[in-house]
Amino acid sequence: MGYLAHNVEEHDKAKKLAKKIENSKDDKEKRELFEEFYIMIYAHHNAEEEVIFPVVKNGLTKEDELDVVREMIEEHSLGAYQFSTVNKTFLENETWNAKFSTLLEVLDHHMEEEESQFTNLAKKVLSKEEDEDLLKKFETAMSKHEKDITMRLKA
Ligand SMILES: [Fe+2]
Ligand SMILES: [Fe+2]
Repeated sequence: MGYLAHNVEEHDKAKKLAKKIENSKDDKEKRELFEEFYIMIYAHHNAEEEVIFPVVKNGLTKEDELDVVREMIEEHSLGAYQFSTVNKTFLENETWNAKFSTLLEVLDHHMEEEESQFTNLAKKVLSKEEDEDLLKKFETAMSKHEKDITMRLKA
């Protein structure tokens, strides 16, 4: 398997976890699931920016195509901003669900564009072997970022 197929699988995992958070009626469970979600998305976005986007960007020359990659990064920033907003809010606060659902709107939009526009460009740029090689590098980067963020959250 290559990164591009794996990306869709990971997005699906994130969507399932988000549903669980939305449906959770237990604050302790909800907090733990949210932390798991945060770690997953943080590591996923950072690994994409480190390993995937530069390679795809390198293979592109047209400005409108480069803009698609630039937009992926901007959407990650938007997600990170909304994540910090949710993080700063107590679960007991009446706005928590609204803040979380806004975060999901940002992430859903991003995943949709990454799986369509970005993936179409990446398929033009990457050979099957490169796509497979990127998955290995992506997974190494993800584990590193998962460890980093977990340590920071526990600190
Ligand atoms: Fe992704
Ligand atoms: Fe992404």
